[in-house]
Amino acid sequence: MHVLGIESSCDETSAAVVKDGRQICSNEVISSLRLHSKYGGVIPEIASRMQLETITSVVDAAIVCARVKLKDIGLISVTNTPGLSGSLLVGVSFAKALSLARDIPLLGVNHLHAHFYAGFLKISGLCGTRKKGPANTPALPFVGLVVSGGHTSLFYVEDFDKIRLLGSTSDDACGEAFDKVAAILGIGYPGGPAIEQLAKKGTAGKIKFTCSNTANPLDFSFSGIKTAVLYRVRDKASVKNANKDKPADIAAAFQETVVDVLIKKSLLACKTKHVNDLVIGGGVAANSRLREKFRAQCLKNRINAYFPPKELCMDNAAMTAGLGYTLYKKGARSGLDLDLS
Ligand code: KG4
Ligand code: ZN
Repeated sequence: MHVLGIESSCDETSAAVVKDGRQICSNEVISSLRLHSKYGGVIPEIASRMQLETITSVVDAAIVCARVKLKDIGLISVTNTPGLSGSLLVGVSFAKALSLARDIPLLGVNHLHAHFYAGFLKISGLCGTRKKGPANTPALPFVGLVVSGGHTSLFYVEDFDKIRLLGSTSDDACGEAFDKVAAILGIGYPGGPAIEQLAKKGTAGKIKFTCSNTANPLDFSFSGIKTAVLYRVRDKASVKNANKDKPADIAAAFQETVVDVLIKKSLLACKTKHVNDLVIGGGVAANSRLREKFRAQCLKNRINAYFPPKELCMDNAAMTAGLGYTLYKKGARSGLDLDLS
């Protein structure tokens, strides 16, 4: 069955066609990122206006690129939570209209759950950039970690319709912390890739940062380390400490500390839930240092770590379509009264 996925939860407008929940036939993504860069963060009004302008052509492109017709689509799977309301509304309204006009079943899916479904997808090579998908896929149950610009959450995934939240951030999301630290260092937006590049030129061990403790050991807190970076940079600018810290060392120390905390808590979740498979998704999961350290630490602890291909870590509709297919096969359906939560 071909599923049309539609994703518009943040600054991307994306549509994809996925066959049988696995094979990506097309995955079109347009981002309004460059329009937000001068503000240092996503401006919801700008994002939703651009989504309104582009959604029709993005869906068209996904259908054409997949070499299918609308009559071949067996399900429309759309992100309906969580995300920016104005943005979600564009995708959900479009999906409802198309479902009604062409009599295609509709299903709303959770964006965070879709992020770890990205680890189960294969790219056919039709419009994608990779010829093959991962050699193997995770086994249920697994622990899922989503690290994105808006969320940092650990889940216990017994099955895709049986997902339990184990912990989440009590303040900033992980990607948000990368973006804010990049702004403090003045290296641009989005901050994640900029920090990753700068950190390569630095030595992590030269500066010591820590992440705050949380009452629930599976929760996260990143606002303290962000503030610590701010004070360090201000201090560096003062005459007393002038030229002591290199920005690259700050970036490396920040990245290393955050990655270590993500690893520690993910491994604890695996241990607590007695599972051997860990799936990591979301924009921050594209970070090479994070991937390298997770792989090494998981190997040491006999945990299998799975990452989606880097291009599927960012928001995309292929993961929305894939998750929709799996839930639909289990009997999930939405009506035209589908709302945003
Ligand atoms: O999942 P995503 O595309 O959107 C949300 O659902 O939020 O994640 C975007 C976030 C941004 O905060 C961005 O800075 C971060 O992912 N990011 C990275 C990297 N690439 C993107 N963070 C660290 N290292 C990267 N290479
Ligand atoms: Zn996301």
